[in-house]
Amino acid sequence: MSQRTGLTLVLAAGEGTRMRSRQPKVLHAVGGRPLIAHVLAAVGRLGGRTAVVVGPGHGDVVAEVKRVAPDAEIFVQAERRGTAHAVLAARPAIARGADDILVVFGDTPLITSATLERLRGAVANGAAVAVLGFRPADPTGYGRLVVEDGRLVAIREEKDASAAERALTLCNAGVMALDGRHALALLERIDDRNAKQEFYLTDAVALARAQELAVVATETEEDEVRGINTRAQLAEAEAMLQRRLRQQWLDAGVTMVAPDTVFLSADTKLAPDVVIEPHVVFGAGVVVDEGAVIRAFSHLEGAHVGRGARVGPFARLRPGAELGPDVRIGNFVEVKASVVEAGAKANHLAYIGDARVGEGSNIGAGTIVCNYDGVAKHHTDIGKGVFIGSNSSLVAPVSVGAGAYVASGSVITDNVPADGLAIARSRQTIKENRASSLRTRKSAGKTKARQAAD
Ligand code: UD1
Ligand code: CA
Repeated sequence: MSQRTGLTLVLAAGEGTRMRSRQPKVLHAVGGRPLIAHVLAAVGRLGGRTAVVVGPGHGDVVAEVKRVAPDAEIFVQAERRGTAHAVLAARPAIARGADDILVVFGDTPLITSATLERLRGAVANGAAVAVLGFRPADPTGYGRLVVEDGRLVAIREEKDASAAERALTLCNAGVMALDGRHALALLERIDDRNAKQEFYLTDAVALARAQELAVVATETEEDEVRGINTRAQLAEAEAMLQRRLRQQWLDAGVTMVAPDTVFLSADTKLAPDVVIEPHVVFGAGVVVDEGAVIRAFSHLEGAHVGRGARVGPFARLRPGAELGPDVRIGNFVEVKASVVEAGAKANHLAYIGDARVGEGSNIGAGTIVCNYDGVAKHHTDIGKGVFIGSNSSLVAPVSVGAGAYVASGSVITDNVPADGLAIARSRQTIKENRASSLRTRKSAGKTKARQAAD
C-alpha cells in the first residue's frame, strides 16, 4: 500500500465548551502531551499528507501543530457548521487529489496508526467509504451505524434517530476513510437538513449507498476511540494511556514494583533493566539508561539518567539534569540544568543548579549551589574528585578545581584551585569549664523575670 497516496484531515475546530477552560480542547494534555499532538503522532506514522482544520483565533493550536507536524497544512473553518463543513474547509488539499482521504478528530488521543491503516486498507480494497465502528458501554450521544442485511446503509446521529435506531449498539467512532476519486462529489452533496442544521460528514454513507458505491464498517475497542468532551473524560483517557505506557515499558524489559503508581509521559524512554520503585512521576522529556534505579517518590522532568545510576528516594530531577553512569542522587536532592559526571554522589539534602559536578566528586549533605543572585543565574563548576563538606554553600559564579576539598559549613565565594583546601567559616573557640556558669547565669535571669511578672 506504500505506493498509494493518502491525505489525512484532522478536525480540531470544536469549541469544547464542556471542558470549562480558556484553552482550546485539543490543547489539553494526556501523558504530558496535547491531545492533538497524540493524534498527529499516530497520523504521522502513516506517511502521506496531513491537513488540520482549526477554529478562528486558534493561534495556540496552530503553534502546536507547527511544532509537532511542521509539514501539515492548516485550514481555518470560519464558522462551526458541522463535520462535513469542517472537512470542506480543507477543500484545496482534497482537490489536489489522493488515493484515500482519512478524516480523524483532534479530540481522540488514543487512536492508533494500526487502526487508521485498516481503514485505508478497506478503501484500497474497493470501498468508497469506510467507517470505524465500536460498541460503547454507553452509546448516548454517538451516531448509530444502521446495518441492513449485514451491510452498512447509513449513520444516524442521535438527535435524528428513531427509538429503534437509538437501540442500536454499534456506534460511529468518528474516523472515516473516503476514496479520493469520490470524496469531493460526496462531500458537496451533503446538506444541513437535520436536527442540528449541521453538515454531517456521516451523511456520506447514505449518499455513497444511493450511488451503489461500496461502504464498509470495521470495528475497534472503545478504549481507542473515546472522544474527549469533559474533564472527567480527559482523566479517563489519561488512565487508559498510563496503562498502555506501563505495559509497553514492562514488555520492553523495565521492572516496576507497583506499575499502577508510576506515571509516565508519552515521550518517556526507559532502557531494559531499569528498575522503578513505587510512586514515581515522569514528566516530559525523561530518558533513563540501562540498569538505572529510580527509587520511590521521585519526580523527574527533562532529565537524562545514565547507566546504573541511582536516583531517590524522594529525589527531584528538573529540566537539564544530566546524570552520568553510576551517579548517586539521594533523598531530598534537587538537580536542575546540571551535568553530574560518572560516579559522582549527592546523597542527602542538596540543591545543584546550573552546575557541573566532575567525575567521582562527593557533594556532602546540605550543600547548596547558590546559582541565583536575585537577577541572573550563574554557573558553578566542580572538577573531578572534589569533596564538598556538608552544609556548604557555593556562591556562583565559582569554580572548585579537581581534587579540591571544601571544609564543612563553608561559604565559598572565591574560586578554589585544584588540590586546594578551602575553609570558609569562622574559627571555633572553646572556653573551658564555662558551661555550668553559663547555665547558672541563665537560670538566675529566668527567676528574676518570673518575680517581676508576679
Ligand atoms: C461525531 C459524529 C458521530 C460520532 C461522534 C464520535 C458527525 C456528524 N457525528 O459527533 O456520528 O459518533 O462524532 O465521537 O460527524 N468539528 C469541527 N467543525 C465543526 C464540527 C466539528 O472541526 O463544525 C470537529 C470537532 O472539533 C471534533 C470533531 O469534529 O474534533 C467532532 O465534532 P463533535 O461536534 O464533537 O461531533 P459529535 O457530535 O461528537
Ligand atoms: Ca465529540
